[in-house]
This record gives sequence, structure tokens and C-alpha cells, in this order.
Amino acid sequence: MSIQSLKALFRPELDELSTYRVPPAPPVVKLDANESPWPLPPEARARIAAALHASELHRYPDGRATKLRDALARGLGGSTDEYVLGAGSDELIALMATAISRPRSGADRPVVVFPDPTFVMYRMTSRAHGWEPVSVPLDGAWDLDAGAMASALARTNPNIVYYATPNNPTGNCFSRDKIERLVDAFPDSLHVIDEAYGPYSGQSFATFAEERPHCALMGTLSKVGFAGIRVGWVRVHEALSQELEKVRQPFNLNTASQDIATLALTDLAPVLETHITSIVAERERLATELDRYEVLQCFPSDANFLLVQHTGDVPKFCRALLDREIAVRQFSTGDSRLRSCIRITIGTPEENQRLVEALRDILG
Ligand SMILES: Cc1ncc(COP(=O)(O)O)c(C=O)c1O
Repeated sequence: MSIQSLKALFRPELDELSTYRVPPAPPVVKLDANESPWPLPPEARARIAAALHASELHRYPDGRATKLRDALARGLGGSTDEYVLGAGSDELIALMATAISRPRSGADRPVVVFPDPTFVMYRMTSRAHGWEPVSVPLDGAWDLDAGAMASALARTNPNIVYYATPNNPTGNCFSRDKIERLVDAFPDSLHVIDEAYGPYSGQSFATFAEERPHCALMGTLSKVGFAGIRVGWVRVHEALSQELEKVRQPFNLNTASQDIATLALTDLAPVLETHITSIVAERERLATELDRYEVLQCFPSDANFLLVQHTGDVPKFCRALLDREIAVRQFSTGDSRLRSCIRITIGTPEENQRLVEALRDILG
């Protein structure tokens, strides 16, 4: 069989997707991926080293991730059986696309609805699984357009609706009452509230979701200091988590990730809190610094990054930053309003200061 005929066997939706690429060598000041800028202090590393020293790496991991589930239920509420765990929330988005994929009667394909712009994986993963993605533009303040969302939900009767709040890349939380009204008005879809950046906003839908079996909460450790271990979760009614568990790879979370994530949610939680507090304070300081420049407009943020509009040549501006070893995120696809924007992850005070000095240099 030729390569051409083998390639013809791949699903057609892949033609419109491209590989998710990350730059090969990390820049000195890395403000492009919404990670926490803080390495762990030595005592925390020692705790992790001790946990790994004691772990049985010659055995398969605990397929149920018992200790991590316990830590999640104790820390975030609910019962251990409500949690489905994944190698980052990315894996859970894919897992839900695999499992919750029966088309509505009369429809050819399952449908997912999300606002736009938002986290790109909702679209990419749904396409890779043969779903129909339906995006609804955010309003001028980057908030949900509740009327347009309601029309899209009524028209398409989606299997899943995603709301990232705070939203990536816009940084803001959506109006709470808009989400609540949409969830209550459309009880036949699963509404997934993605709280990846929730720790930076101080807001959560936990109590709201607890009372609604068609509302799930998604979370991750990636944005609060543990992007490298790839641990995320979705908390959903037990009747649904049982079904999702059927398609989860039995050993999707390795032993090291389970051990480290359990520590992150328990003994190391105070260290993470200190880092979060520092990042929130730096976010406000950096926003004030950026707003000094007429060419820049900083949108309000509840997350660990800022979306900034630049009235000039954005690629040239980003190149000038990169020449000074500072990487930020540009947007070449998706909502056209983003073409004039960059996304800046909040760094350590020193990194942010380097950015401030670079801006002075570039913008005068
Ligand atoms: C809104 C949102 N959800 C989920 C994720 C993915 O997180 P994870 O690293 O857990 O896969 C991201 C990452 O950028 C994100 O912005």
C-alpha cells in the first residue's frame, strides 16, 4: 500500500488541523504559555524527591489514583467517584469527545458549542473526533453574548457546551448570571465550566454545579506551578463519571504525576497559594505599567495573563521583544479581533521588570 493510500485512511477533518507547535528553545523570559513562573522552593522539591524515592516505579501506577482522588475530594469538595482524572485537561476534553458522542436524533454528528475566542482545544479536539464545532462570538467586552449563545444552543442542541472562566486568551471571567441562566435553560446538554485559571480569580462554580447533574467542572494543576506533571480533572455527576471512566486509559496518570499532584493539593498547597498571591499582585502592577503607553490597551484580567491590544505592527513588536529574549503569545488564526492583540503571561517580579524595561526601550 502506498503512503498516499494510507494517508487517505486518516479522518478528513485532520486536513484542516495543524500540529500544536511549541518553540524549540525556551526563551530567557518565557511569558507565552500561561504557566506559573515560579520554580518550587528547595523544601518543596525535597518533599517531592522523598515521595518519588518511596514510590514503586517497577509497578504499574494505581489505576484509580486513590490518593489523588482523596486529595481532590478533600480539597475541592464532592465525592471521590465524581472525579475523572486525565493527563492535563486536554486529555479530558478528548475523553469527553470520545464518550459523549452520540449524535442527536436526526443529526449526522455530535455538536459542541463554545464562545469565541476561547481555548483552542475545544475546537481542535472536537474536529479530530469528527464533531461539529459551533462557535459564538463574544461581545465587545469579551463577555458571553447570552442571546446568541441561547440561539445557538436552541438551534443545535449540542452534546457539550464549554465555558472557560476566566477565559483564555481574553483573561476575564464571564458574567456569572449569564452562565447560570444558560445552564438552567438547556438541561439536555452537558455544560462544562473550565476553571483552569480559577485560582487566580477567586471564583468557582462548585456550589452551583453540585446542584446540577448536567453541569461539570474542569480543573488542572498546569496553571499553578505543575504544568510539567500533566494532571487535570473533571468533576461530574457520578452517573456520568462512571461512563467516562469506561473510555479512560487505565494507567493514564503515571505514578510520579499522581504522587506530585497529591502533594501539590495537600502539603504544598500553601506554597502554591503564596505564588498565586504574588502573580495576582504582579498582574495589577504590570497592567498599570502597560496602560502608560498610548499604543497599548490592557483588557481587565482575572487570570495569570493579560490580553493587550497594540495599535501598531504586532509581529514587529513581538520580534522586538524576542530580540530582547522575551516571548509573548501572538495570534494568527481564530477571531480576527485577536490579530491586534498579544497575550502576556505574568512572570516573576524580575521577569516583569525586564518586560517593563523592554517596553520603555521599544516604545519610548
Ligand atoms: C482554558 C484552558 N483550559 C485547559 C487548558 C489545558 O490545561 P492542561 O495543561 O491541564 O491540559 C488550558 C491551557 O492553556 C486552558 O487555557
